[in-house]
Amino acid sequence: MFMLPTKRIIFPFRDIYRTNKLIQNLRSCTTSVHCRNFRTSSAALKDDTTSDMSRQSYWEKYYRTKQPEGSEPYDWFFPYKVAKPYLLQHIHQQSALLAERSTGKPPILQVMELGCGTSDLSAQLFVDEPHMHIHCVDFAEEAIQIMRDKYIHFLPETEHSPGIQFRHCNVSNLPFTDSRFNICFEKGTIDAVLKQKKHATSYAVEVICEVARVLKEDGVFLQFTEERPELRLSVLEKAKVEILKSRNRNFSVSFKEVGDFSGIEFFLYIMQDINNGS
Ligand SMILES: C[S@@+](CC[C@H](N)C(=O)[O-])C[C@H]1O[C@@H](n2cnc3c(N)ncnc32)[C@H](O)[C@@H]1O
Repeated sequence: MFMLPTKRIIFPFRDIYRTNKLIQNLRSCTTSVHCRNFRTSSAALKDDTTSDMSRQSYWEKYYRTKQPEGSEPYDWFFPYKVAKPYLLQHIHQQSALLAERSTGKPPILQVMELGCGTSDLSAQLFVDEPHMHIHCVDFAEEAIQIMRDKYIHFLPETEHSPGIQFRHCNVSNLPFTDSRFNICFEKGTIDAVLKQKKHATSYAVEVICEVARVLKEDGVFLQFTEERPELRLSVLEKAKVEILKSRNRNFSVSFKEVGDFSGIEFFLYIMQDINNGS
């Protein structure tokens, strides 16, 4: 029978007190997190009509001016506790697959969050499931620096030990080798990519193909968004065709309703590698 990995994690001794404090803070802050969504915010956040939320310069400025260093974690759409059951379901599925396939001790789960911004979602996820190596990436250097400073205690010792690493990069050109991750997820990042004024769909397809490249066989890509199925599914179907053509890999596409918050309905889109028939 599959046993869930132990929740114990070893931190360098000098950091134990600070890490425990951080975990306590994280546990108590879930309800006080501020949330934003595109429908109510994109107009309010735009400084001028030429702002384009798919651009790096937009987000660099956003984190420099709208979210000064040291402010509360800022989550788009909804806080961690809403995404948690969906993330845990896939984490447990992927952990079971890893355990099934390994003869000895299974390797730790490799996870990536695309466009982490200054959300504490991955940090809270790590507190609940500290057996993963999470890479959080974003092209806004300011956001990455804030997160590196804040979560220095979660820095993994090696690429194969548990922890969280923050990296500055564009999600259309990920600095990772092929088939690296078991799970990739994002909240609001493909939405930002789809705000590109011209060729938004082909840009999103390019990003999703890049995610497929770094996903392992049977890996899964989870997208939390406010975009409705009648709009998002056609983009994902295009990406699926492109992935099959360029990488000869088959993905299934499905979605779930996550719920209604502040009068807006949110969705989870799931792209799962099914080459192995899972
Ligand atoms: C709507 S915010 C969501 C932030 C965070 N995921 C959350 O839920 O609060 C979108 C984030 O994606 C990042 N982003 C947008 N396009 C990107 C790209 N092409 N490469 C890397 N990061 C990107 C932005 O810098 C921003 O932090």
